[in-house]
Amino acid sequence: MQWQAFSGLRVPGSMADMTATPQHHAPLRIGLIVGSLSHRSINRRLARALHRMAPSGVTLADIRIDALPMYNPDHDAAFPASARRFKAELEAADGLIIVTPEYNRSIPAVLKNAIDVGSRPWGESSWFGKPVALLGAGLNGAGTAVAQAHLRACLGYCGAQVLGAPETCVHWTDAPVDEDGVAGPELATTLAAFLAATVRHVAKAQSPDDSHLSKV
Ligand SMILES: Cc1cc2nc3c(=O)[nH]c(=O)nc-3n(C[C@H](O)[C@H](O)[C@H](O)COP(=O)(O)O)c2cc1C
Repeated sequence: MQWQAFSGLRVPGSMADMTATPQHHAPLRIGLIVGSLSHRSINRRLARALHRMAPSGVTLADIRIDALPMYNPDHDAAFPASARRFKAELEAADGLIIVTPEYNRSIPAVLKNAIDVGSRPWGESSWFGKPVALLGAGLNGAGTAVAQAHLRACLGYCGAQVLGAPETCVHWTDAPVDEDGVAGPELATTLAAFLAATVRHVAKAQSPDDSHLSKV
């Protein structure tokens, strides 16, 4: 993973309040995880739109989960190198965005595996205290609401700080993001509000007031 600054799109004045982001001195580093392996994934396309819309002062970097081994407690004593790398990427991020499809009214197995890998070895969870925001696109009207609820439960158990609102579930109709990752106007408004809330959430977690927290 490489942290790269992405040029932010200017937000129209009428959106200023909804998309206002806090002032920081250091860029916020937000890792982006996509819960789909498909190269035609609509959720990956949605993630591409986020990259294009990242506000200034925020860097987004993809964190891949496709090459992770299936979690096996037998390997805790000698955690696999790719799993260690994944955990290091989680830990290096100030916050995370997870963009996921819904599979059979839950989250895809590849994403659940990534959560399990990140949560171990015991006592070394990489999720604990991490601010996380959830996003997803689906082909039906619920737009991944159930998957996000399951994800919230898993991550909450792992001690992550999951953003509560706005819940952002995208009903994917009429290709709202083109192949270059440009979102149509309606979705762009939704994503701008999601990004602003995410940045506020991640910035808040930077507060030294949280320094008394310890890992479980
Ligand atoms: C195994 C499987 C289970 C699915 N289950 C659901 C579901 O529970 N709810 C839903 O809205 N869509 C479901 N879908 C449809 C997905 O929303 C759709 O395939 C979507 O394109 C997947 O996201 P992706 O393109 O980012 O991979 C399912 C698709 C697959 C392959």
